[in-house]
Amino acid sequence: MRWARHAVPAAVTALAALAARDLLQREHALRRNFPLLGRARYLLESIGPELRQYIVAGNNEERPFTRDQRRWVYASAKRQNNYFGFGTDNDIEYTPGYPVIKHRTFGRAVPASTPTIGHEVRLPAAKVLGGARRRTHAFRPESVVTISGMSFGSLSGPAVEALNRGAAIAGCLHNTGEGGLSAYHRHGGELILQLGTAYFGCRDDQGRFDLARLKDAVAGAPVRALEIKLSQGAKPSLGGLLPAAKVSAEIAATRGIPMGRDCVSPSRHAEFSDCDSLLDWVELLAAETGLPVGIKSAVGDLDFWTELTDLMRDTGRGVDFVTIDGGEGGTGAAPLIFTDSVSLPFQQGFARVYPVFAERDLHEQVVFIGSGKLGLPDNAVVAFALGCDMLAVGREAMLAIGCIQAQKCHTDTCPTGVATQNAWLTRGLDPASKSVRAAHYIKTLRRDLMKVAEACGVEHPGLIDADAVEILGGRTSATPLREVYGYRPGWGLPSAADRKAVVELMSIEAPQGGSAPPSPTAQG
Ligand SMILES: Cc1cc2nc3c(=O)[nH]c(=O)nc-3n(C[C@H](O)[C@H](O)[C@H](O)COP(=O)(O)O)c2cc1C
Ligand code: SF4
Repeated sequence: MRWARHAVPAAVTALAALAARDLLQREHALRRNFPLLGRARYLLESIGPELRQYIVAGNNEERPFTRDQRRWVYASAKRQNNYFGFGTDNDIEYTPGYPVIKHRTFGRAVPASTPTIGHEVRLPAAKVLGGARRRTHAFRPESVVTISGMSFGSLSGPAVEALNRGAAIAGCLHNTGEGGLSAYHRHGGELILQLGTAYFGCRDDQGRFDLARLKDAVAGAPVRALEIKLSQGAKPSLGGLLPAAKVSAEIAATRGIPMGRDCVSPSRHAEFSDCDSLLDWVELLAAETGLPVGIKSAVGDLDFWTELTDLMRDTGRGVDFVTIDGGEGGTGAAPLIFTDSVSLPFQQGFARVYPVFAERDLHEQVVFIGSGKLGLPDNAVVAFALGCDMLAVGREAMLAIGCIQAQKCHTDTCPTGVATQNAWLTRGLDPASKSVRAAHYIKTLRRDLMKVAEACGVEHPGLIDADAVEILGGRTSATPLREVYGYRPGWGLPSAADRKAVVELMSIEAPQGGSAPPSPTAQG
């Protein structure tokens, strides 16, 4: 046993050295927070495919995001090889509802020839936000991809900072979420300021909306638009909920609420009570700030949308953008019945609301933003085909900055420091390196969208129409997306003028394709 006298101290020293290395490195939050233990996760991830052949779930069996989807986000965020080998493992032929995109052999746009080309592609929105209603600060968003509203409170300060810095690097908008505009939102990324029912960050001491405070907030940060939150796909008709465990001193101060108690936002706004007063408020906010103003909502009963659009058509008042959030969307915390069963999933909800605008000729005047697992290119393409102009990505951006889908966001014990206020756990999340990952992910998503647009023969994903996608009904049938949702010709596309403008914008990029020049024979 003499060997043990030397081997044991040597092993302990080696482990201590490894633990110290884990503690000091900044790349992996899990290893920083759980030295040595965190390594097990990376080991399991790397040998997972082999293990799963024999034991547990397949690549498409985990939810909300499958293993394949997460692997794609992680690899994209690290700018590693995000290709998959051997062909699809989706059961395409036997999965009713599976969307298939129809490429075009000779389209107007030519696809790039190498995987890396286009990572820096510019992908602005095809519509000008606030343009139709001539808002003073109307603008064309530089990126069709935006970071969806997730408050400081549900997310940690470093996570919000990483996302904001990532938004600055990728040139995309970052929605504050309903928790107000915190110090973590001021790292260069341009903002959509969300107004929830509690009006955090722009309320007076009695919790009433305070216009002067809103204007101060807008003046003190790069706020480009305002979003009134009516509802969220994961918990429509409920106010936001921040469990007591997550109400830190900093959050209590930012929001103006007591510490140690659940922070429950009201379920209704006090500033309006119907479509008419909502539109009055929209016009007031737009006039006072000059900013485009929109609404975010999940889709249930359609009466709200018909009444809203009737009033827009008849009175000339109106919202500049509409964010439709699907029932499959995420939340920091909500009752199971709401996350599982209330409000329509994105595709069905959006395809009901868009026609309500289109039937009143309002669809070209409104920017449509979609959310609900749209940070994955296949879902995103269907959203564009249905008429979305922009996407808001929430949990996929969380994955990009280190979330491992442990689904403990409501407990304050998030192991990666993304969705907790626990100082030890948030310490592991390094905003500087994670911001680069957020930016890589957003750029990769834009690049993939561009590649699919080119495969469909068009210059921009906003020009992919409802005829370019078919929905499989099983092995022997498929129905064009246009027929599935009863879309009329032209629905789902921007106006002719917007189409022309975006084609011109995209044509500034050198034509891509990577082939050699044609042979003399071909040239005639
Ligand atoms: C942790 C967390 C916090 C969220 N906070 C808000 C919020 O403050 N306001 C809001 O409108 N939506 C909030 N959401 C919903 C997201 O903005 C988004 O609409 C939804 O998750 C769907 O997008 P996804 O599938 O890409 O995550 C939150 C989602 C998560 C996961
Ligand atoms: S790692 Fe888990 S607890 Fe943390 S944000 Fe992701 S899902 Fe939520």
